[in-house]
Amino acid sequence: MSETHDEIRDGVLERFTRTAVAPQQEEKFPVGPDSAKALGYGAREIDSLPPAVTESFCGVGNPIGLGELQPGETVLDLGSGAGLDSVLAAREVGLAGKVVGVDMTEAMVDKARRNAKSVGLDNVEFVHSGIDAIPMEDESIDVVISNGVLNLCPDKPKVLREAFRVLRPGGRLQLADVLLHDDVTPEEVAEKSTWSD
Ligand SMILES: C[S@@+](CC[C@H](N)C(=O)[O-])C[C@H]1O[C@@H](n2cnc3c(N)ncnc32)[C@H](O)[C@@H]1O
Repeated sequence: MSETHDEIRDGVLERFTRTAVAPQQEEKFPVGPDSAKALGYGAREIDSLPPAVTESFCGVGNPIGLGELQPGETVLDLGSGAGLDSVLAAREVGLAGKVVGVDMTEAMVDKARRNAKSVGLDNVEFVHSGIDAIPMEDESIDVVISNGVLNLCPDKPKVLREAFRVLRPGGRLQLADVLLHDDVTPEEVAEKSTWSD
């Protein structure tokens, strides 16, 4: 099973490296600023950002919209991609707060770092890591957000255990993701192209 997990991971890495470097070539799922607006992000805020901040957005909802972030809070963005949610969260928590984005795709982390710098944010950082072993202290986070990521993780309980480990008592988990209601066979689950295509 772990070999299958490695194959799934490689497929996901390849897929999102492409979304980081060539988002305009994406044909299979919606990416970019128009998708963000369709999912409920404020059009004025999206349009005010440099194109590089929004062009590789590939979320499936709006996790920040699920609960208001408060100034001073510490936010963790699991699978932060090119950093749109992290950038928006960093603006909401302000200089007394902090946002950490974690992503396993190096091209996404590089782009997110450039994006945060381009909009002048000092209260957000990006870490290159898998989210099934989050390099953070227990009970150190007020709000965990994530957008379109859990569905790509073969071991979802492990990721959720990690999310709850780093959350402070009373912290919030604000997830946007895709759910399949139909039955799937073990063969379909093992087929990596259904994860990364
Ligand atoms: C659909 S994109 C969403 C990116 C971002 N949340 C957004 O809304 O634009 C999925 C992201 O999750 C990351 N990812 C998938 N599985 C991961 C894992 N196990 N650990 C860390 N990052 C992961 C991918 O590298 C990719 O950047």
